[in-house]
Amino acid sequence: MEILKVQHLSKTYGKDENQVNALKDVSFALEQGEFAAVVGESGSGKSTLLNCIGALDTPTAGNIYMDGNDLFSMKEEQRTIFRRRNIGFVFQSFQLVSELTVEQNIMFPILLDYRKPEQSAVNEILEVLGLKERRHHLPSQLSGGQQQRVATDYKT
Ligand SMILES: Nc1ncnc2c1ncn2[C@@H]1O[C@H](COP(=O)(O)OP(=O)(O)OP(=O)(O)O)[C@@H](O)[C@H]1O
Ligand SMILES: [Mg+2]
Repeated sequence: MEILKVQHLSKTYGKDENQVNALKDVSFALEQGEFAAVVGESGSGKSTLLNCIGALDTPTAGNIYMDGNDLFSMKEEQRTIFRRRNIGFVFQSFQLVSELTVEQNIMFPILLDYRKPEQSAVNEILEVLGLKERRHHLPSQLSGGQQQRVATDYKT
């Protein structure tokens, strides 16, 4: 089954002489369960593409269908909820909340979605990430790899 379909995607930043065509007519599709890597030189548009697919930024033209849902025909609020529930995005700079513990950082997006995190689900995430012994640590007390795993945005 096709989980992601990108059609004629373009993204232009800026205006006039500052205009940058970061994406020009990009089309591809991915099957469910398929792994893909985006490879290209610095400035070639990798982050721009991922930001659009992750519904963090809007393209100038084109469509993205995720599991059959047209991301950019949704209203912004609807897209935000769709992103929260369906898309995981590991930021290079983690974006953890420094005042919250490992466990609280994992629960935070679930609470933002007005849901009550199940302790058993949180335990499972901690187990999978190998962070059970670090659950009460703050991000500043973790290694780089451990911080990145907390930021994995695991979907339960
Ligand atoms: N907010 C912006 N305003 C104007 N131009 C931008 C903006 N963001 C990115 N660009 C330009 O768009 C192009 C694509 O940038 P992008 O960040 O997607 O590249 P990248 O492939 O992720 O590069 P890197 O490997 O260095 O992270 C670059 O030429 C960049 O200068
Ligand atoms: Mg980049």
